[in-house]
Amino acid sequence: MKILVTGGAGFIGSAVVRLAVSRGHEVVNLDALTYAACLENVASVSGSNLYSFEQADIRDRVRLDEIFNIHRPDVVMHLAAESHVDRSIDGPGDFILTNINGTYNMLEAARAYWVGAGKPADFRFHHISTDEVFGSLGAEGQFTEDTSYDPRSPYSASKAASDHLVRAWHETYGLPVVLTNCSNNYGPFHFPEKLIPVVILNALAGKPLPIYGDGSNVRDWLYVEDHADALLLVVEKGKLGRSYNIGGENERSNLQLVRTLCGILDAKRPKASGSYADQITYVTDRPGHDARYAIDPSRIREELGWRPSVTVEEGLEKTVQWYLDNEAWWKPLQARAGVGVRLGVKG
Ligand SMILES: NC(=O)c1ccc[n+]([C@@H]2O[C@H](COP(=O)([O-])OP(=O)(O)OC[C@H]3O[C@@H](n4cnc5c(N)ncnc54)[C@H](O)[C@@H]3O)[C@@H](O)[C@H]2O)c1
Repeated sequence: MKILVTGGAGFIGSAVVRLAVSRGHEVVNLDALTYAACLENVASVSGSNLYSFEQADIRDRVRLDEIFNIHRPDVVMHLAAESHVDRSIDGPGDFILTNINGTYNMLEAARAYWVGAGKPADFRFHHISTDEVFGSLGAEGQFTEDTSYDPRSPYSASKAASDHLVRAWHETYGLPVVLTNCSNNYGPFHFPEKLIPVVILNALAGKPLPIYGDGSNVRDWLYVEDHADALLLVVEKGKLGRSYNIGGENERSNLQLVRTLCGILDAKRPKASGSYADQITYVTDRPGHDARYAIDPSRIREELGWRPSVTVEEGLEKTVQWYLDNEAWWKPLQARAGVGVRLGVKG
């Protein structure tokens, strides 16, 4: 199968690229290389004759048409997006242009190509989205695929809009689409502005470990390599026009998560005295911070037989070890604009 992956130099996209190539798929990685991208993420496969790269911006429709016509993919996996909620609070414009207009361009380019190719029955446009489109839960309940949309940040609103466009292109033009909405990912190659890498790297540097608000916000943590496996399953076996929620079955509050990370670090790289947990510092909460996300994974489990392979403790252990072993990857990224700075407090 020849897969056009957008955003393949980012965190999740690169996990998809690595896994797809390792399974013998041909991959075209389309990425604009924004601040969040890192081609080292795909260095392990970039020498393969199954892999090619196109630097392109999904806001540029003409370029997208060229790439579809040159590479003629069997399926599209669309992950390119602006993805950091805190950045969306400070500067929502890029989120609107990339996540909404960019997805519109991808849909139109895919549709033109699919129609021009005689509407091949196996073509798929797989749109990768987030559980944040469903809003915020109280102490009980889980998001199902039928939960009403209720996005509350510029990021989640832009992703919700893109999901609506994808469904509309299926209903109106018959474009063969599948959608997935996943929970918070973590794992190797996670850009060092997101919670888990920030905590690991600040801990090692002796800096405060920032906890937004009281740390009670709950997320369902999904190991990125499990997510990539689920995405490849959905693009191959998912039912047309259907969406699948993907979760890690691992709900933890931010405070629990940070304490677990500190415990792993205490064991792997003990401090001269005390615990890394002594560095925990409570900071002003994110405006509109969603209280709890939780995924009901019944559909993907029952229809496609997929379950995550690791618990959050196992995944965090692997992740911490990866950051300890890969300073050459993360060190240069800490110099990129906005990294290490508290963002998203303008409100
Ligand atoms: N990280 C998570 O926990 C999570 C959870 C749910 C859903 N998602 C979704 O998964 C997808 C990937 O997320 P991620 O965490 O890997 O993001 P990321 O920020 O690590 O990577 C995004 C990639 O998209 C590229 N990109 C951004 N704008 C582009 C443009 N205009 N044209 C072409 N490429 C562009 C970037 O260069 C980068 O390589 C996103 O659609 C995101 O909404 C992420």
